[in-house]
Amino acid sequence: MILTICKDYEEMSRKAASLAAESIHENPSALVSFPGGDTPLGMVHAFADMVNTGEVDISKARYVSLDEWVGLSDKDEGSCGLFNRTELLGRLQKPFLDTHILNGAAADIETERKALDAYIAQYGPLDVSVLGIGMNGHLGFNEDGVDFSLNAHIIPLSETTKTVMTKYFGEKFHPEYGISQGIAQIMAAKKVILIANGAHKAEILEKALRGEVTNRVPASVLQNHPNCYVVVDEAAAARL
Ligand code: GLP
Repeated sequence: MILTICKDYEEMSRKAASLAAESIHENPSALVSFPGGDTPLGMVHAFADMVNTGEVDISKARYVSLDEWVGLSDKDEGSCGLFNRTELLGRLQKPFLDTHILNGAAADIETERKALDAYIAQYGPLDVSVLGIGMNGHLGFNEDGVDFSLNAHIIPLSETTKTVMTKYFGEKFHPEYGISQGIAQIMAAKKVILIANGAHKAEILEKALRGEVTNRVPASVLQNHPNCYVVVDEAAAARL
């Protein structure tokens, strides 16, 4: 693991965007995945700026969703899909060659899951997977107790995630499940970039990076990834 402690959120965001762009420089046909949530907002804006100024050429690269709340589509406030479309894809003046955005509201979620696996099998492995970390150490929706050998799957949301999720959509939605790339697909990525900011992430980051590797803290599996960058701000790094 290569740990970079940045002075603030902006520096963290720029650093993570540059690392992601490097993967596309190395392989113009890269398969790329970014997380939803609050953490990556600055990173996806910085990445879009790099695309729009010509610093990185994504015209041969592909983008795939990491995860989604089951029951929410990319039209729904607080969904990962809407985040992708508004904050990343909608800002790009030069688009990705192709995108695969999960629809958590699909009538047949199992077909949606299979399609995610098929897309990653066809165009993968991921060249770069940018990840946030949940308050319980989840990656995507790989919640505590997840089987590390899984590819894409549908998983019950943990109580921690159900508490935290109101920050995205208040009481409007009450999802019980998530659909997510699996740890097997994340671990097969050629590069992983874990980003975190804020004092509220300090304790779980310490567990994930300094504690034992255990599925009780899914992000701890990244200790075993051969090319993992951890990019955090000073507040999140307080206990490292
Ligand atoms: C969410 C998403 C993850 C995200 C994580 C952290 O529930 N499923 O993909 O990385 O939790 O979110 P945030 O960045 O808002 O803290």
